[in-house]
Amino acid sequence: MSDHRAPVDRKTRFIGKSICRLVAVAPWAWPAISGAVGRFFDHAAAGWDERTAAGSPAHLAALAAGLDALELRPEKVLDLGCGTGAGTLFLAREFPTASIRGLDLSAEMIGKAQAKIGLDPDARVSFRAGDAAKLPFGEDSFDLVAQVNMPIFFGQITRVLRPGGGLIIATSQGERTPFSTPERLVRQKLAAHGFGQVRTGAAGEGTWVAAKLKDPDE
Ligand SMILES: C[S@@+](CC[C@H](N)C(=O)[O-])C[C@H]1O[C@@H](n2cnc3c(N)ncnc32)[C@H](O)[C@@H]1O
Repeated sequence: MSDHRAPVDRKTRFIGKSICRLVAVAPWAWPAISGAVGRFFDHAAAGWDERTAAGSPAHLAALAAGLDALELRPEKVLDLGCGTGAGTLFLAREFPTASIRGLDLSAEMIGKAQAKIGLDPDARVSFRAGDAAKLPFGEDSFDLVAQVNMPIFFGQITRVLRPGGGLIIATSQGERTPFSTPERLVRQKLAAHGFGQVRTGAAGEGTWVAAKLKDPDE
């Protein structure tokens, strides 16, 4: 897979960043824009991997570095805003016995992701369309939640992550990533939602934040 990325225009970057800030500080406002965001990514799904180099080492470098920092051996993993599944499949390779779920708002993106795995009789890796603002999973369902280039729904992540579980928020191009949330805001929200052991770093052009949900029993 080539790591050449098509440039993103300033307007798209501005809109993406504004959406990320809005979701972080006022997640209740998300339903007003979710339909438009879903339609945007439905249109963007065709040719996504070619335009963004989604499966390339450069695109996934920050996710990989965040995983190294967390030092977890999760059994249940969720990739939020999985798009065409590049990060989900990377996580499946990293954790060969874990069950891995990829979720995305866009049914078109999920179709592209699903086509990469075909029929998986064990259902170790599976994809489904859904909204990270109202995750279709119960409390404490996951040991690890990861997301690459995606707005952060802190409340929902906290609900589905088990105490002691890990979170990785990665971008593929740091501040140039349209869907990226300022690190200061991320740190603030992580603290407010009960996360600790917050670490940050850069890898390639990307950035990562890794944290663990505090376990009151420890
Ligand atoms: C910039 S793309 C990144 C896709 C993939 N993670 C990657 O790195 O190639 C953002 C993705 O997040 C999805 N998304 C945006 N808001 C979402 C939400 N509330 N719930 C689930 N997915 C969402 C979009 O449909 C899109 O596929």
